[in-house]
Amino acid sequence: MSTAKLILDGKEHEFPVIVGTEQETAIDITTLRQRTGAITLDPGYANTGSCVSSITFIDGETGILRYRGIPIEDLCASAKFPEVCYLLIYGHLPNSEEGAEWRRQLTLNSFLHQSMINFFDHFPVTAHPMAILSAMVATLSAFYPDVMDDKKIDLSIVRLLAKAKTFAAYSFKKSIGEPAVYPRTDHSYAANFLRMMFATPAEFYEVSPVLENALNMLLIVHADHEQNCSTSTVRMVGSSLSNLYSSISAAISALWGPLHGGANEAVINMLQAIHRDGGNYRKYVDMAKKKDSGFRLMGFGHRVYKNYDPRATILKREVDLVLGALGVTDPLVDIAKNLEDIALKDDFFVERKLYPNVDFYSGILYRAMGIPMEMFTAMFALGRLPGWIAHWKEMREDPATRIHRPRQVYVGPNKTAFTPLEKRERSAYQPKFTKE
Ligand code: ACO
Repeated sequence: MSTAKLILDGKEHEFPVIVGTEQETAIDITTLRQRTGAITLDPGYANTGSCVSSITFIDGETGILRYRGIPIEDLCASAKFPEVCYLLIYGHLPNSEEGAEWRRQLTLNSFLHQSMINFFDHFPVTAHPMAILSAMVATLSAFYPDVMDDKKIDLSIVRLLAKAKTFAAYSFKKSIGEPAVYPRTDHSYAANFLRMMFATPAEFYEVSPVLENALNMLLIVHADHEQNCSTSTVRMVGSSLSNLYSSISAAISALWGPLHGGANEAVINMLQAIHRDGGNYRKYVDMAKKKDSGFRLMGFGHRVYKNYDPRATILKREVDLVLGALGVTDPLVDIAKNLEDIALKDDFFVERKLYPNVDFYSGILYRAMGIPMEMFTAMFALGRLPGWIAHWKEMREDPATRIHRPRQVYVGPNKTAFTPLEKRERSAYQPKFTKE
């Protein structure tokens, strides 16, 4: 085994080097503080491995993404989302018997307890689907306290996967004031979701195979992405032995932010703003290059990919297929492609290796499929669920897991005396509590 040497205050310390199956190299500093008194400082954890994992491999320099060793391109071409869930969670593809039982469980468990459906009547119509989704997933622990029972973990997992899509579809129905549509046992996971979203009591609804295939693929490309912000949240929360549902509810909240899963919504907002502005995309590229503008090209850049995000390549191709098959034209598609062309040739983006990420084209696809913008991040969450679950399970089964508790370098005031109220001065910043 090779080792790494660290010299601190003239004293040499040796640390083991761990090499992964794809030759990723890490210096194991587990004993660093104990031996040297020092810690590492790595804001945003860009150089920190928080665990060893056998779920997903990413090579950001060459644009590779594999689930349990299988390339994302192959899974998108041939697999169905439920079998990808099984692959991520249980480590192998299901055989025909396992797959049939898995699909049966996913359908059976997609129905909601009536008192759970009542919750939907009490959210305001203005509620964002992500607020509803994270609240309802947390609520699962109230309805199913057996989530604490390790012997029932498989049941807890399938319940979550099955019910989350019902929650997401119901949150949409709620927002448009339509009655909820119950799941059906004779539909696939993707078809069931589309039916629950778009069927109405007024007319017959048949799921379009184009939409079913597109949704299946969208769910697969989002299914896992190793230690991203929301997945690390699952591991962080779950490391305190919090139950599966509360850990995943926290991940949904982490995903909501515009720098993470919320970027798909932000991309469409940006493309619409450019469209309203006469389609002047060059102006927005210039603005993104000016740091003080506070504007970034949404859907561009990634912490890990320093090459084209392979998921964006798949989705870009699918945009053309789906729009063509549905006969949809969308002016935002041309703006997106022009924006991409110009940014990929611009020194600012080239030097920083900023390429379109998965969110750049996913929003356009969702739009073409008739999925409203407020639902985009919830769609991402449905796709990411199996990844979150797989990481939660892997962490719980790993004897090396300890409660996640990073340290910090304190830079605040040294010991300071308490000032009595009458001697305190008015501070420079006054909090603003008014609404305007
Ligand atoms: N537009 C313009 N400039 C950018 C962009 C962008 N989208 N992204 C990064 N940069 C610039 C930064 O200003 C910085 O420039 P500097 O080196 O001159 O200071 C440099 O590129 C590096 O950027 P960081 O913010 O340090 O990169 P980081 O790895 O921390 O952030 C992130 C990655 C959050 C994805 C970032 O690229 C971003 O904000 N992108 C837009 C939001 C987005 O699309 N998020 C979705 C990510 S994919 C996902 O979560 C599924």
